[in-house]
Amino acid sequence: MLEALGLCKTFGALRVTNDVSFSLEKGERRVILGPNGAGKTTLFNLLVGELEPTAGTVQLNGDDVTRAGVEARAQMGLARSYQKNNLFDQLTVRENLALAVATATGKSAWFRKDTLKDAEINRIIVDVAAQVALSDHLDLAVESAPYGVRRQLEVGLALATGPSVLLMDEPTSGVGPEMIKAFHTLLKTLPENLTMLIIEHDMDLALDVADRVTVLNYGEVVFEGTPDETRSSPLVEEIYLGGWDSHA
Ligand SMILES: Nc1ncnc2c1ncn2[C@@H]1O[C@H](COP(=O)(O)OP(=O)(O)OP(=O)(O)O)[C@@H](O)[C@H]1O
Ligand SMILES: [Mg+2]
Repeated sequence: MLEALGLCKTFGALRVTNDVSFSLEKGERRVILGPNGAGKTTLFNLLVGELEPTAGTVQLNGDDVTRAGVEARAQMGLARSYQKNNLFDQLTVRENLALAVATATGKSAWFRKDTLKDAEINRIIVDVAAQVALSDHLDLAVESAPYGVRRQLEVGLALATGPSVLLMDEPTSGVGPEMIKAFHTLLKTLPENLTMLIIEHDMDLALDVADRVTVLNYGEVVFEGTPDETRSSPLVEEIYLGGWDSHA
């Protein structure tokens, strides 16, 4: 579905992504672990087309998309949610979702009141809201929504585009244990054929949802394996104890 081959990215003298390769099967859930600054978000930016690699290629469904833009890759079914919220504060939860659906379906690239009169758009909004547990918060203005709701909406916006491959950058960053639990449940209820790549700092959640785990350190893949192999890897433990949970 999604494949990285020898991806490299340098910013000046700084090598942030170093020869990263992996391949995601259809329906696979892969978690990316790694300390702060390991290059996880940069890797996502390369995969979705927000950054161009210095070397290497990205393939989506067998097509080389290395030079394709963000829009083109989105059209091909690739969606991502952001580490930091990327929402329209002045709109409600429903309106944010409506805008995402309208854009993805090519109906409109900006929010208009009649977007909400579109039956197809409404059907998708209700569907996505149920998936991310936002059904009761649809008419909340985003600027007054609690942080947890905003994080859920961030994932909802990516889902609203009907992706086949979903990249999530620390969906639980900054939320409390209750929200992490809710999100854990949410991940388990997403369609089985949805391919997912998730950057996640919460080890329990990560190792429970993952089919495979990739660990990045200083821009390099230093480990790849199953959750069980991850738990028993001295190398992973060493990096982990070095502190990759220092976020908040
Ligand atoms: N546009 C840029 N220009 C220069 N340096 C950058 C740029 N983007 C990222 N970096 C650097 O690349 C390194 C990796 O950053 P990145 O955001 O990919 O890490 P990360 O693994 O996502 O970290 P975190 O866990 O804190 O989110 C960092 O040292 C960062 O400062
Ligand atoms: Mg990051």
